Amino acid sequence: MTRILVTGGAGFIGGHLVDRLVRDRHDVIVLDNMRRGRASALGQHLRAGDVELVEGDIRDAELLTGVMRGVETVYHLAAQSNVMGAIDDAEYSFTSNALGTFNVLRAAADAGAARLVFTSSREVYGESGYVPVDEDHPLAAKNPYGASKVAGEAYARTFAHCYGLDVAVLRLANVYGHGDRDRVIPLWLDAAAAGRDLNVYGGGQVLDFVWIATVIDALTLAGEEGLPGPTNIGSGVGTSILELARRIIEVGSSRSQIARVPARGAEVTRFVADTTRMRALGIEPESDPLAHLPALTEAYAAGVAV
Ligand SMILES: NC(=O)c1ccc[n+]([C@@H]2O[C@H](COP(=O)([O-])OP(=O)(O)OC[C@H]3O[C@@H](n4cnc5c(N)ncnc54)[C@H](O)[C@@H]3O)[C@@H](O)[C@H]2O)c1
Repeated sequence: MTRILVTGGAGFIGGHLVDRLVRDRHDVIVLDNMRRGRASALGQHLRAGDVELVEGDIRDAELLTGVMRGVETVYHLAAQSNVMGAIDDAEYSFTSNALGTFNVLRAAADAGAARLVFTSSREVYGESGYVPVDEDHPLAAKNPYGASKVAGEAYARTFAHCYGLDVAVLRLANVYGHGDRDRVIPLWLDAAAAGRDLNVYGGGQVLDFVWIATVIDALTLAGEEGLPGPTNIGSGVGTSILELARRIIEVGSSRSQIARVPARGAEVTRFVADTTRMRALGIEPESDPLAHLPALTEAYAAGVAV
């Protein structure tokens, strides 16, 4: 039984990851400041006593020292986790994502943890010069969120080189699945269910949506075996944002309309992951990245996805 720390474990991806780790019979501790996290993401595990939840902040280095005792593997997910939130509060995204990541790395190295898995983002590439984007593409973040992830990656690399901490970096594309909120797919599923307009900022965006289960497969593989280098986790298929809106309306048989509103300049408009490295590790995404929309739509309609 390995002792595992999941920072940000009460969030969207963290909740799914904890489900898998508990299923695999690990000893799991979650550290989350509950800014976006919800105890309900861990509900059954908390009730069964399978998971310990520490409500606290990764900016608190002293707390981290205590939480890290006896931990072998760290999944570091805690972060200010979206672009617009980081623009609204650049200081929080810096202190949580850059300084907080430094704190987690230092506590892990000091405690003699064997491995740390870091959830970076496709936002580190900024507006890509070509698609699909491979891992050697220059890092040219265009917003404070991307910059904070570039900083986190740089510290992760240096902790691997200088302090012998095995670090695995995953650059996640747009993840979707049950339990998410305030991102394009859950916002539009809600709007479609209520018959409200789906607001499309700009409309020219082409993005890479990847199903949560693929991401959890990649995270757990990285935690168990490590990674040879930073690895994109995406579907490898570009989806136009207008196509996404149409599919959501169609799948939900919704009377919603698409409303075009001005683009938000800080957001990356074009990303498709080169998935060669990910596939070489045995992680295969779905051929249709939106294949799970019908199941998710049903879950939203039944009120179980929120
Ligand atoms: N969801 C995506 O599409 C996506 C894409 C790329 C990268 N990521 C990264 O994956 C990770 C998980 O994302 P998510 O979608 O689950 O986001 P989320 O916001 O649902 O989860 C992040 C969790 O971290 C917690 N947290 C935030 N700041 C903290 C702090 N200072 N101390 C302790 N806890 C803190 C929040 O309360 C939340 O529960 C994040 O690092 C995010 O940047 C997500």
